[in-house]
Amino acid sequence: MKAITYTKYGAPDVLTPEQVTTPTPRDNEVLVKIQATSVTTGDQKARSLDLPRGYGLLGRLVFGILAPRRQILGTELAGRIVAVGRNVTRFKIGDDIFAYPGARLGGYAEYAALPEDAAIALIPSQLSYKEAVGLSFGPATALNFLHDKGDIQSGENVLIVGASGGVGTAAVQLAKYFGAHVTGVCSTTNIELVLSLGADQVIDYTQEDFSQSGADYDIILDTTGTVSYQSAQKALRSGGRFLMVSGDLPQLLSMSFARKRDGKKGIAGYAPEKAEELAFIAKLVEAGQFSPVIDRCYPLAEIQDAHAYVDTGRKKGNVIISVGDQL
Ligand SMILES: NC(=O)c1ccc[n+]([C@@H]2O[C@H](COP(=O)([O-])OP(=O)(O)OC[C@H]3O[C@@H](n4cnc5c(N)ncnc54)[C@H](OP(=O)(O)O)[C@@H]3O)[C@@H](O)[C@H]2O)c1
Repeated sequence: MKAITYTKYGAPDVLTPEQVTTPTPRDNEVLVKIQATSVTTGDQKARSLDLPRGYGLLGRLVFGILAPRRQILGTELAGRIVAVGRNVTRFKIGDDIFAYPGARLGGYAEYAALPEDAAIALIPSQLSYKEAVGLSFGPATALNFLHDKGDIQSGENVLIVGASGGVGTAAVQLAKYFGAHVTGVCSTTNIELVLSLGADQVIDYTQEDFSQSGADYDIILDTTGTVSYQSAQKALRSGGRFLMVSGDLPQLLSMSFARKRDGKKGIAGYAPEKAEELAFIAKLVEAGQFSPVIDRCYPLAEIQDAHAYVDTGRKKGNVIISVGDQL
């Protein structure tokens, strides 16, 4: 099968087309004919090993010490199940699914074999493969941080820093779904987008520093790594939570050792890939309460250009890659 592989870490030109063996599903696996994948910040980091300060060694342990252990990137994918192992009961041939292999990777290819209990869910009926592929990385991360880690409650005042990105566009919509009053932090060009996702108000970070505005929040979710615990603490209400989706090791250490006042908490960590979270997001889509934001779409042959765009750090929502001919 056709795939995009990489054998060393680096700039987008490490990604090259290659013919590789089509996987055969094991007894507990499904074989997916992939129609769409994407370039997430996870793919970008696994390709470049350009990680936040202090995470270099951890990155090499996860992705490969000297060179990539898994040579086909692609943290999320959507397509049709074309074969199933003999013990598979959750899915059948012909099911249209989206999946979040996450750090297992594998989306930049014509086929992928995945365990049936991996993070896989049926595509909501109204979505194309191209739209469904953006339901994993950003939404599952936002859901994990807001709900599982942050214990978001209806009526809370929530600030999303990085509201126009892959995680942020999902976080704004999910926080609204949970009944919060949402403020999105973004640049001037993305104000309309963030308001269209349901944010009650926006703060333009090129004009104003949210921590100086005097507002107080129950939750501050930061996807940009630009907010310190100390400045978040000033803008949090008593009992407030600072959710650090992205940040470097010095920030994490300073948050861990900071004196916590008034029951305020700082929470960081990894958002795991879970099937039930994908199913939850698919239900919200079916109910018209969530829709993925697509910025650009590239064919697989232009994967280097797509990665170069994501490297700018300016993407809005998702950058999609078409693999098959049905989008
Ligand atoms: N902990 C976990 O398990 C986990 C899981 C997934 C992702 N992550 C991490 O989360 C981070 C965000 O991922 P992502 O996919 O959402 O990134 P992304 O889509 O690349 O984010 C880009 C967006 O961020 C905005 N932005 C940049 N600087 C900003 C600032 N100072 N204030 C407000 N907005 C700003 C940009 O808007 P402008 O162009 O207008 O600036 C752009 O729209 C990444 O570092 C990723 O590795 C962590």
